[in-house]
Amino acid sequence: MPLLGEKDGDASGAAAWSEAIAAQDGFVFITQEYNHSISASLKNALDYLRVEWNNKATGIVSYGSVGGARAAEHLRGILGELLIADVRVHPALSLFTDFENGAVLKAAPVQADSVNQMLDQVIPWAGALKTIR
Ligand SMILES: Cc1cc2nc3c(=O)[nH]c(=O)nc-3n(C[C@H](O)[C@H](O)[C@H](O)COP(=O)(O)O)c2cc1C
Repeated sequence: MPLLGEKDGDASGAAAWSEAIAAQDGFVFITQEYNHSISASLKNALDYLRVEWNNKATGIVSYGSVGGARAAEHLRGILGELLIADVRVHPALSLFTDFENGAVLKAAPVQADSVNQMLDQVIPWAGALKTIR
């Protein structure tokens, strides 16, 4: 999608994006870290919608040189504004130990436990928040 508000951009994908997000009860955001934050494209995709995000649950998986931790914490602030409830457990993948050559995912076994713990928090919250929409 083009940048939100860009006059000449082809925003024809926005309706499909809205429909796709409206249909979900919860999400898992997977984000890399660019200059200590999330990518511009993820921010743009978040900004395109509002009510479609509201009162839903999410987990965050991040990756970067320090596990993408700073991007994940920035993302939490944005999610709050969109009324998306983000769970505590946060799998943070290191470019040095969870990827081969910083590019090919070869996650340490402990990361699978972390992902499962995160999903165990997201799924009940997603069900609970459905009751107030
Ligand atoms: C413009 C730019 C800024 C970056 N800033 C950070 C950073 O602040 N922290 C970090 O851990 N990695 C940083 N990186 C490294 C990326 O997180 C890393 O290359 C990652 O693999 C990118 O994921 P992607 O290829 O899926 O987009 C940066 C990379 C680029 C291109």
